[in-house]
Formats: sequence, C-alpha cells, structure tokens
Amino acid sequence: MKVAVLGAAGGIGQALSLLLKTQLPAGSELALYDVAPVVPGVAVDLSHIPTAVKVTGHGKDDLGVALTDANIVLIPAGVPRKPGMDRSDLFNTNASIVKALVEGVAEHCPEACLGIITNPVNTTVAIAAETLKAKGVYDKNKLFGVTTLDVIRAETFVAELKDVDPANIHVPVIGGHSGTTILPLLSQVEGVSFSEDEVSKLTTRIQNAGTEVVEAKAGGGSATLSMGQAAARFCLSLTAAMQGENVVEYTYVQTDDSEDASFFAHPVRLGPNGVEEILPYGDLSEFEQKAKEDMLEGLRGDIKLGVDFVNG
Ligand code: NAD
Ligand code: LMR
Repeated sequence: MKVAVLGAAGGIGQALSLLLKTQLPAGSELALYDVAPVVPGVAVDLSHIPTAVKVTGHGKDDLGVALTDANIVLIPAGVPRKPGMDRSDLFNTNASIVKALVEGVAEHCPEACLGIITNPVNTTVAIAAETLKAKGVYDKNKLFGVTTLDVIRAETFVAELKDVDPANIHVPVIGGHSGTTILPLLSQVEGVSFSEDEVSKLTTRIQNAGTEVVEAKAGGGSATLSMGQAAARFCLSLTAAMQGENVVEYTYVQTDDSEDASFFAHPVRLGPNGVEEILPYGDLSEFEQKAKEDMLEGLRGDIKLGVDFVNG
C-alpha cells in the first residue's frame, strides 16, 4: 500500500503523516509532497520512528515521483481560514492548487483513490471530478471529500453532553462540509435521546465547530490536529477496505441522486476499488428534513462553482 500526502508539510499534513507513519500496515509506503522546502526534513524526522512504514519526502519538482504507484492520495494542500472568513473565501487560492495536483494524479496514478481535504470541500471535490473527467480518467467510486471531522466532532459533542464514552457514540453526518450543509442526524443516534432544544443547539455547534477552532486559534489557522486524526481514520478505513475488510464511513461522494445534490455525504461501504456501495441515510426527523431542504440550493451552487471553474 502506498499513500501519498500532498501538502504534507502543513498543519494537517504533518499531523496526518505522523498518524499514518505509526498506524499504516507494516510494509506500506508514505510519500510526502509539498511546495514548502521543509518537506524532506519532515520525512527524515518521521523516518526515525521505528515502524515498518517507509517514508519519503518530495519537493515541488517531484510530484510525479511522490504519486507514481500510489494507491491512496490525500490532499490537504492549500490555505486555511482566518477569523471572519467563510470556507468559500478560500476558493480563489485553493481551486487552482487542487486542480493542478489532481492533474498530477491523473497523469501519474489515475487508478488511485483520492481524498480531498482542501476547502471549500463542497467545491474542491467537484473541481477534482471535472479535472479527472477532462483527462479521461474519472472514476466516481474513487473520489471522496473527507468529511470525517464532522463525524468525530459530532460524536465528541454528543458524548460530552450525555456524559458517555465517545467510543460508544456513532453520529451520522450527511450533506456537505460547510455551515448548514453539514447535517448531523441526531435522531439516529442510538442509546441517547435529545430534547428539541438540545437538537437545535447541538446541530448549530457541530455546524460551527470549524469556526470555533478558527476563532480560538485567532489568526493562526484552522483545525489541524483533529483533522489529522479524522483524515487518518478515513485513510485507515480505506486501507482496511482495500485489503478486504467490511468498512462503512460517512464521506462526500458523487451520488447521481437528483433529489439531493450531485455530491452528498452518505454512509458508504468501502471496498478494494473505493466505493463498494452508497448506502441510504435512512429516515430523517421533521427538523432534519427541513434542514436538508433549506441547505440543498446552497450546496448545489457550491458544486456548480467547481464544475464551472474547470469547464469555463
Ligand atoms: P497549512 O497552511 O498549515 O498547510 C497547507 C500546506 O499546503 C502548506 O505546507 C503549503 O506549503 C502546502 N501547499 C500549498 N500549495 C501547495 C501546492 N500547490 N502543492 C503542495 N502543497 C502545497 O494549512 P492546513 O491547516 O494544513 O489546512 C489545509 C487545508 O485543509 C485548508 O484549505 C483548510 O481549510 C482545509 N481543512 C479541511 C478540513 C476538512 O474537514 N476537510 C479540516 C481542516 C482544514
Ligand atoms: C473545519 O471544519 O475545521 C475545516 O473545514 C476548517 C475550517 O475552515 O473550518
């Protein structure tokens, strides 16, 4: 198994790479790519950890080497938010970064599964899809927007509120990854119940959790450590699925479901070739149904922005 992390010298990239160095199966290879000159040093640093995962570092002219033979590519390259910004304000800078890196994926490892972390995820995943289509190598089963951070946050906040072990809490989160497009399905959480007021407050907190971190970091960036953990969980699930385990994760994928949006986070059964099966997200409460209807137009607009960026 070869995993390539593009943007590996950044806040997410370093946390994620550390977790992958210690948790990928023995015999795996971890290729770290970044335009920042520190990236070979990050690779040397990680290589001193005694696990059977080989780490290599690749600077800006070495994208092809980093990507060749990769089975999984994770992209956290790009700028993060500062207080007062919305994720969509990152579009102008991050759209072209994602497009250029995905062109590299199309050229050097078109069969790899691709996890997009760079914001605005609602839009950058569509950019990735259109870029791969333009190169004639798009496989909708191999492209994922990584929304696992919304799931782990929801599980943390529910466990805190109900004073239970977070390991025993599972919260479905569907939709997209921005503001009200993030839709936790609290009506489906087993083992706990919520008042109407709790549902309303928890939903808002989960939707604004990224902003909570951005404000607390006061100009120093957005979530990196919890995102490193979330992306590692997603990558390790995908790795396990590629090796034959039965794994389900919530992730933002192409759905072809005209009733929602063309990309929508669902529970997805992962397999050796990426998406094995997109599972239904089940019945929604009245509150969730209204929240979904209210956010769909915005999500569809975010996706269209990405499609238009690539196709002009
Ligand atoms: P960061 O600034 O710490 O790191 C970004 C890294 O990307 C830097 O090392 C930079 O050199 C590198 N980079 C920039 N352009 C590049 C290019 N063309 N090729 C390769 N590397 C390049 O930022 P961060 O905190 O790690 O966040 C990265 C992105 O992830 C942001 O867009 C942020 O909004 C997003 N994010 C997404 C989620 C999510 O849930 N999906 C969560 C947190 C952050
Ligand atoms: C998050 O949810 O923490 C990320 O999308 C980063 C951000 O800008 O909020």
